[in-house]
Amino acid sequence: MKRIVILTGAGISAESGVKTFRGSNGLWNNYRIEEVASPIAWERDPKLVLEFYNQRRKQLFEVNPNAGHKALVKLEKKFNVKIITQNVDDLHERAGSENILHLHGELKKARSTVDSGLVYELKDWPLNIGDKCEQGSQLRPHIVWFGEAVPAIMDAIQIVKRADIFIVIGTSMVVYPAAGLINYVSDETPKYLIDPNAEEVSGIRNLTIIRKKAGEGVPELVEELLGLGKL
Ligand code: OAD
Repeated sequence: MKRIVILTGAGISAESGVKTFRGSNGLWNNYRIEEVASPIAWERDPKLVLEFYNQRRKQLFEVNPNAGHKALVKLEKKFNVKIITQNVDDLHERAGSENILHLHGELKKARSTVDSGLVYELKDWPLNIGDKCEQGSQLRPHIVWFGEAVPAIMDAIQIVKRADIFIVIGTSMVVYPAAGLINYVSDETPKYLIDPNAEEVSGIRNLTIIRKKAGEGVPELVEELLGLGKL
């Protein structure tokens, strides 16, 4: 079975109603990364950090996967599919995709501040000061903050190196190390980039840019790859 590797970013969830980070209406226009998404922020004002992620998590309980997430599931009929996502939402899971690697953590999980191996599923949206792990330490969002290592990146590199087809959907490709993953894909491998605002990309061989929203571009590409439609 051919291996399809898909790298997704906030853009694939935009049509579900989840805000992207950059761009005119992006989250980082209203919040400063240093104040809500960094270890220093957590030290300075953990309540504010929890509140920021509580709002994101609350919203996640109210939205659903869109046509882009759903179309990717169909690829599993014919291909070995691995999704590497920068997203902390669970919309790929809820759409039904099987193999998902979260590079930047997961909003619906919390983890211990003394033992990073202690990770807990959150059944409801609020995570509060005083919510503790079984060793008695405060729980934090299970999110990779700016300035922190990305533990899953080595696994991601191994996955992309073996891609027969590589698809990038809805990411501005500015946050490293995720943005560097495409450089590990072999030159011969066909690559697709689906993003309505994609700029020209230089130095990447065999790249097809599809300037459409995920909800339209992904189902079309999936049909094409399944040998059913025309692009
Ligand atoms: P960005 O907000 O940086 O980029 C979103 C991309 O999605 C842009 O290129 C948009 O053009 C595109 N886009 C918007 N609507 C779309 C649609 N309907 N269909 C397809 N594409 C669409 O988000 P990311 O690249 O995911 O990290 O951001 C990377 C990381 O930066 C995030 O994981 C997060 C953030 O800070 C952390 O919080 C650690």
